[in-house]
Amino acid sequence: MSHELKTPLASLREGAELLHDEVGGPLEPPQRKVVGILRDNSIKLQRMIEGLLDYQRALHAAASLDRSEVRLDALLREVTDAHLLEATARRQSVALEVPPLVVEGDAEKLRTVFDNLVGNALKFAPDGGAVRVVAAAESGAVHVDVIDSGPGVPAEECESIFDSFFQGRAQGAGRVAGSGLGLAIAREFVQAHGGAISVVEGEGGHFRVVLPRHAELPE
Ligand SMILES: Nc1ncnc2c1ncn2[C@@H]1O[C@H](COP(=O)(O)OP(=O)(O)OP(=O)(O)O)[C@@H](O)[C@H]1O
Ligand SMILES: [Mg+2]
Repeated sequence: MSHELKTPLASLREGAELLHDEVGGPLEPPQRKVVGILRDNSIKLQRMIEGLLDYQRALHAAASLDRSEVRLDALLREVTDAHLLEATARRQSVALEVPPLVVEGDAEKLRTVFDNLVGNALKFAPDGGAVRVVAAAESGAVHVDVIDSGPGVPAEECESIFDSFFQGRAQGAGRVAGSGLGLAIAREFVQAHGGAISVVEGEGGHFRVVLPRHAELPE
């Protein structure tokens, strides 16, 4: 499936790119305008198709968890460390308030979940803003809150942001536009662990993941 889509799309894109660079000869301004639109949209389409393929892969992957005892505190430290450069570049602080915690789960999928949440928190928080990752154990469950000092999610978008390709009103920083799949994939992976992910309404961005300590596979 993927290859069949990727090949013609890549040639469309390259063709538009060549025209745009006037490799086929000089363009009049109206032609240049049309070629610019073609080129921008073929880039957009290519990104969406790649996103769709990633999403399909994630749905497929969610069906089988590779379980082990996961040190959640260590995993969260690794995730925040991986974002430290981008945070420093925007003078953002990242605080980790996490006691030693073990959950039974798929370490790589949990990493994807928290990587998306921390990435979003930094993306939507302003320059000089703050991100906090707070975890706590509670009878049979673990809560992880990812909190940022950005605008937060408007109440009417709290559910739809988990839909694939949905991008809300909040404008994130960064040159590369997202595809609106991070939270859709995060929800699939959390639910595969028998957990839940949601927005906590209030000031700023606040996402909560609840994981059972010994995750049962939802049948
Ligand atoms: N911390 C946050 N603060 C404010 N809005 C947020 C935050 N996290 C997510 N959102 C909103 O939810 C939408 C969907 O997020 P999601 O992670 O699925 O997609 P994305 O970050 O736009 O793109 P991708 O993750 O695919 O690169 C975002 O476009 C934004 O509108
Ligand atoms: Mg995202």
